[in-house]
Amino acid sequence: MGSAGYHGAVNAHYGDFDLSARIREMLGRRAATRDELAAFDEFHTGGRTSTRALADLVALAPGMLVLDVGSGVGGPARTLAAERGARVAGLDLTRDFCRAARMLTAMIGMSAGVTFQQGDALALPYADERFDVVWSQNTIMNIPDKGRLFAEIRRVLKPGGAFALEAALAGPAGGEVRYPTFWAGSAELSFLDTPGRTRELLLGAGLTVEEWEDVTAANVEQARQRATARRATGARPLGRDVIVRDAVTEKIDNSLRNGLEGRIVAVRVVYRKPADAGGA
Ligand SMILES: C[S@@+](CC[C@H](N)C(=O)[O-])C[C@H]1O[C@@H](n2cnc3c(N)ncnc32)[C@H](O)[C@@H]1O
Repeated sequence: MGSAGYHGAVNAHYGDFDLSARIREMLGRRAATRDELAAFDEFHTGGRTSTRALADLVALAPGMLVLDVGSGVGGPARTLAAERGARVAGLDLTRDFCRAARMLTAMIGMSAGVTFQQGDALALPYADERFDVVWSQNTIMNIPDKGRLFAEIRRVLKPGGAFALEAALAGPAGGEVRYPTFWAGSAELSFLDTPGRTRELLLGAGLTVEEWEDVTAANVEQARQRATARRATGARPLGRDVIVRDAVTEKIDNSLRNGLEGRIVAVRVVYRKPADAGGA
């Protein structure tokens, strides 16, 4: 797939509907609080709890400049700014998500410290050595060339800066994952590497491992709770259905089955660019 085809496919999977209008409608055209948005604006299995855990793992401190790669509708970026005092730049390939992220951030009065820009993680539109932390949750599964991605991340990190990552990786069972998942409707947009290959690629990009946690069991439990709640009560008005256009029930069920069957594992990790790294 060429880059235009790839950009179109990511936008078609996540966006291509007027998400901002839909969110305003679902909120009943009133301004919401950040806590009310949490039911849908953190688009990864562990929600705000896992964002806090990753922030702890990377020792995020007030004033740090963070780049969120694949920032979605901006929930994690707002959490890092509101709760940890970080300044956050979000980058996402999906146009509708970027628009919705700006709209929600303005709605809760946080636009001064949290910005969003549309762009591709494979060509980060930033100068070398700019960020204290590069952050990415449940995004690299959509990114085919992870060697290039990790090299780009290292380039924009300050020497001594950290890369904080959560992602699903290929599980020990091997074989294909069950689709649709939240990140892909089919294998066309899904690029999962094993943990071993992922470590190799990070190291090859000049990043050194600091923390590596397997959070599969916690994510499976989250997916189980979500699947059970869905059966009991159906779609919640302000749940995942706000930002996911179709097949939400199947996607929840497949999160659970893919984890239980060893088709995916989930990790929370921190890598660092050496403090004495010369040049970019
Ligand atoms: C499952 S969502 C996670 C969003 C956000 N990180 C969160 O946890 O709330 C994955 C996001 O990755 C973005 N994405 C996928 N491929 C990308 C790329 N090559 N460059 C930038 N963003 C990308 C998608 O548009 C989508 O918003």
